[in-house]
Amino acid sequence: MAQSPATERAPDTMAARVLACASCHGAEGEGTSDVYFPRLAGKPAGYLYNQLVAFRDARRKYPPMNYLLDFLPAPYLKQMAEHFASLRPPFPPPAIPDVSKEILARGEAIALVDPSDRFDPGSASAIGLDLGRLLWVRGTGDAASATTALKAMNLVLQAGNFGLVALDLADVPAPALRAFPFTTWLRLARVIEGTQSVALLLGAAHLARSAGGVTLSLDRPADRTHVTWRGASHRARLLSAITLHARLITARSVNPEP
Ligand code: HEC
Repeated sequence: MAQSPATERAPDTMAARVLACASCHGAEGEGTSDVYFPRLAGKPAGYLYNQLVAFRDARRKYPPMNYLLDFLPAPYLKQMAEHFASLRPPFPPPAIPDVSKEILARGEAIALVDPSDRFDPGSASAIGLDLGRLLWVRGTGDAASATTALKAMNLVLQAGNFGLVALDLADVPAPALRAFPFTTWLRLARVIEGTQSVALLLGAAHLARSAGGVTLSLDRPADRTHVTWRGASHRARLLSAITLHARLITARSVNPEP
């Protein structure tokens, strides 16, 4: 039987290893103009390594990366993590707001898209919200509301000039949310790209897993004392406060430690 010739291998340099990452993360891990593809450069090596292991083991899901990292040994991932952690490509220059002083002095207009009609102007005004600067797009809570609300959100964001546009999906039933194509949130991110507007999605569960945006989780404290009532009667007490713990899950400009 003939001896098979030594298999020819591509040189295993770091440059060769990370070539596959460049199209999505930039040649130096600097990220791209599309915020969905996160910057890797300069993030703590331990953090990057944990993410790579999580992708490899499919605990963190993004199919192209799950596939790419499948079966790669830990030391290999560790070296890639250390490589990106050591890079310091420049950040893109910050966007300069093109707003006149008069407009700045007037303050920002905000919009709330409210498909389930959850907003209570009375209590919002009581805690200091200036209703004169709020555009309230109010739905009826019926089955088509979520879709209409998404269209409204897009229109308002495209119109510009709103500092914050919030979409409250907390009471929209899960099947209606699942009916949105998965590109919905990416497209929304693209609409505000390069603008000064903040798009805020409120939901009962994770909606848009955006690596480019900030995700906050509001959890009730474990000890069940998160609701405070006022008054002594057992028949009629007033709700006076709800305590929630805010947790930062992903952030664009923060480097969570591993
Ligand atoms: C097809 C595009 C694509 C390719 C190729 C790709 N990535 Fe990613 N990567 C992504 C996206 C998108 C995310 C964010 C996914 C998410 O969280 O849902 C991500 C996330 C990451 C993260 C987590 C970053 C953070 O801040 O949490 C690391 C680390 C990472 N990629 C490393 C790599 C490395 C190393 C390679 C090459 C071996 C690579 N990626 C190839 C698209 C890609």
